Amino acid sequence: MSAPIGIFDSGYGGLTILKEIVTALPDYDFLYLGDNARAPYGTRSFDIVYDFTLQAVQHLFAQGAPLVILACNTASAKALRSIQQKYLPISEDPSRRVLGVIRPTVEVLKEHTKTGHVGILATPGTINSHSYQMEIEKMNPGMQVSELACPMWVPLVETGEFGGPGADYFVKKYVDQILEDDPEIDTLILGCTHYPLLYPKIREYTPEHIRILPQGELVAESLTDYLKRHPEMDSRLSKNGCIEYLTTESCDKFNPLASLFLDRPVSSSRIHL
Ligand code: DGL
Repeated sequence: MSAPIGIFDSGYGGLTILKEIVTALPDYDFLYLGDNARAPYGTRSFDIVYDFTLQAVQHLFAQGAPLVILACNTASAKALRSIQQKYLPISEDPSRRVLGVIRPTVEVLKEHTKTGHVGILATPGTINSHSYQMEIEKMNPGMQVSELACPMWVPLVETGEFGGPGADYFVKKYVDQILEDDPEIDTLILGCTHYPLLYPKIREYTPEHIRILPQGELVAESLTDYLKRHPEMDSRLSKNGCIEYLTTESCDKFNPLASLFLDRPVSSSRIHL
């Protein structure tokens, strides 16, 4: 694999983004990196999330990826801007690019909400950064935004408990809470790439008229469009339809759960960041 698209997440969550991107761009090569040994990121400080994310980005660059997607809202909220503005310009190849998942999600918001009231469910890190709120204010001034941290949802996914009764309790708790905060919400953003794995339960406890935005599809559409607008980047990317997986945890732990999430066999390699 010579020049794959790097996809990074703190753990398994980014696989929900990878899945949609591979469906949209099946000919491209992908290198997935899950920092499972240090997940979750959602409760960590700004500095730590930046340091961990930069290490991951540098590793993916060193493996030949000219383009890296931070398939993690927490990393997009806390590290993307500094990587783009401070690190990339002084890096050894400033033409490499790093993109996040928040902007592509916010860009389409006004096509979905009728009431103009939207809810963001995300990790404490993403919520405390107010990145969604600020991005929404920039692109859709006047929209009413309610934000709620769901600290129990990532652990439910990382431990494989997303289908169990504990998940029912915590999904209902946070969905009820945000709809109580603003009953006019008609659109919910799952602002964490782990959350689609809880989607069946989130859907079950969310009234039918409320739309739940599919972040993976939105990011895949946005990346497809980006590559059309940036032929200089597109031409650097290798296209053999290969996917490789890296994890900082044990492969024996990563492979079965990743295979389950992706619906295809996954064989990973362990790395140290
Ligand atoms: N999947 C990540 C996100 O989109 C973060 C989960 C975590 O490590 O807390 O925010």
